[in-house]
Amino acid sequence: MSFKLNLPWAALWLTAVCTTACTTSPMSPATPDAADALRWNPARFETQQLSVNGQTVTVRAFENIVYVRQPVDTTYQVMNVYVPEAYFHGQAVGGYTARTAPIFLPNNVGGYMPAKPGTAQPAAQGPNAGKLSTIAVALSKGYVVASPGARGRPTKDANGVYTGKAPAAIVDLKAAVRWLRFNDAALPGDAEKIIANGTSAGGALSALLGASGNHTDYASHLAALGAADARDDIFAVSAYCPITNLEHADAAYEWQFQGVNDYRKIEISMLDFNMQRKEVAGTLNAAQMDVSNALAPGFPVYVNGLNLRSASGQALTLDAAGNGPFKDAVAAQLMASAQRALDAGTDLSAATWLRISNAQVTGIDFAAYVHAIGRMKQPPAFDDLALASGENQLFGTAHMDTQHFTAYSAAHHSGTAAGGSSADPQTVRMMNAMAYLGAPGARNAPHWRVRHGSADRDTALAVPFILATTLQQQGKTVDFALPWNVPHSGDYDLDALFSWMAAVATQPR
Ligand code: DHB
Repeated sequence: MSFKLNLPWAALWLTAVCTTACTTSPMSPATPDAADALRWNPARFETQQLSVNGQTVTVRAFENIVYVRQPVDTTYQVMNVYVPEAYFHGQAVGGYTARTAPIFLPNNVGGYMPAKPGTAQPAAQGPNAGKLSTIAVALSKGYVVASPGARGRPTKDANGVYTGKAPAAIVDLKAAVRWLRFNDAALPGDAEKIIANGTSAGGALSALLGASGNHTDYASHLAALGAADARDDIFAVSAYCPITNLEHADAAYEWQFQGVNDYRKIEISMLDFNMQRKEVAGTLNAAQMDVSNALAPGFPVYVNGLNLRSASGQALTLDAAGNGPFKDAVAAQLMASAQRALDAGTDLSAATWLRISNAQVTGIDFAAYVHAIGRMKQPPAFDDLALASGENQLFGTAHMDTQHFTAYSAAHHSGTAAGGSSADPQTVRMMNAMAYLGAPGARNAPHWRVRHGSADRDTALAVPFILATTLQQQGKTVDFALPWNVPHSGDYDLDALFSWMAAVATQPR
């Protein structure tokens, strides 16, 4: 539990600049404090009134805090911090106090694109337009909320130099965590109870934040930004459909989708700071089928090298054809998902690939399931041979937009994109949560919740399954599920998410 300095707060809060109107207009980036630009300024806030399920919640909004001393991009290296007003009056919310409230740390990253911090207001546009924000719900339950922005794959500075290539986004999130710890004594909320949340690329970054706590691999990047000199390990991770383990995701994808030749892919772009998604359909050509056939056999080799075991101790391996206890365990997760849906009264008659008798899910035809959900990506799903994927762009450099990050795609480079060079393996590793689980020098978060919808085709089911199984094997508390028929998305089960958060918040570190 962290030490809190209580007395000076009251005096400072009396000088608050705004105490009434609810406003949604963002503030300009904070003016650096002469003593230390990273010191939280309790006087720089606006009051916001949030309507959460019929309840009015009053919060202090500390928006656009630049969380490093030498930012390279103050559009994204900023954080919004929200604190329930009650904590400034010695009151409790949801059983928490200013001293004990966990800090909910959601990021808005999607597609490894740059992301602005989240706000407590409903989104103006995008898939969640008009919906109650997860941040507002967290505040109504007594969490302090800190939502960091982060640089992303196309981000450039005024000279046209790329500033958001890997590992920029994770370095930014770590710097934000360090800011919270640096300010822990004064800022309401317990920086020893930070719970990260994110979806897809944002889920991968949450997981990576949870896995790579305090690892020195990131030290020089953090020092270059003037990040606070504080720890960056966190307490818990909520990751929705994490697009992680990119080095092995191509093989995993073909292990699952080999033989499914029609695809419906989503093209991601940015428009006015918002991510746009457009669906494009097609059929794999013969060369792409060859790529699928070349990649799929690499997956059993990878899995068998992980020495994964089920909770009952069974070795989760695969034979050369990709069958075996590992696949059975993934299928069992799907069956458990279907059983939960059935128990909740969902009509599963359209899922002809399930065997159901006497209201029990007794079997699954995995190949038929895969055909039913359909392929989204062409092989290689992530490291595109012509460097056209978002992940190719993630692994570019200051002066090069795209690079390969797997040996296979580098060796089979094609297309018109110049070069076809490969990212430095250390940078690739620094984007993969798997690389830091159990690694010497990394403090892994003890509590994890991982969700990947059963209808999600953005990465193979094996990717979150391997993450969750590795965590379980290493003694972490893991709540893992493949919610029934849920597509690639996040924050769709807030009651369950917040129940999990409340339960883990009572646990020790
Ligand atoms: C996301 C989706 C993808 O399919 C991908 O490859 C990377 C990121 C996303 O939604 O964040």
